[in-house]
Amino acid sequence: MIDLRILGWAGMDQTLRQTTSRFGPWLTGALYLMLATGLLMIIGEPVRELVTFSFWLKMFLVAVGTLVAAIFQRTLRKHNQQWEETLVRRRSIKGLAMLTFLIWACIIFLGRLIAYDHVWGSWSPATKA
Ligand code: HEM
Repeated sequence: MIDLRILGWAGMDQTLRQTTSRFGPWLTGALYLMLATGLLMIIGEPVRELVTFSFWLKMFLVAVGTLVAAIFQRTLRKHNQQWEETLVRRRSIKGLAMLTFLIWACIIFLGRLIAYDHVWGSWSPATKA
């Protein structure tokens, strides 16, 4: 929703700050929840999870997505007026919003793909194990 607000596709009746205040806590809470449930699944079947290309690519993208979201929320708090008036209109910022939207979409697919890691062929350590 934050990405869609930056792209100008949703929530245009709210400021950027209002949008992040509304959805930011959901983002953080959901990440903690998925970290906890993910860790439980890893403890349950460590080899199935850790010997897959999809899992490690997903973890890398989760780290990138989280870092971008954290930096964004921090700079928005510090330079709120600049964000609302100019930065949100920049093409580079809209490009970054589109990129992070795609990153989160890939994370969803990669989560499901862990069970089908053979699709990566020789890139999957599971095919060699
Ligand atoms: C924060 C750290 C995370 C960890 C450690 C983690 C770990 C895992 C693990 C171990 C699985 C099980 C895969 C399997 O055995 O089939 C899984 C599945 C999945 N994850 Fe995550 N995950 C995390 C975050 C996320 C996030 C942020 C999303 C979505 C935005 C996500 C979406 C999914 C999906 C859609 C599945 C497939 C569930 C299914 O098979 O029905 N995960 N994750």
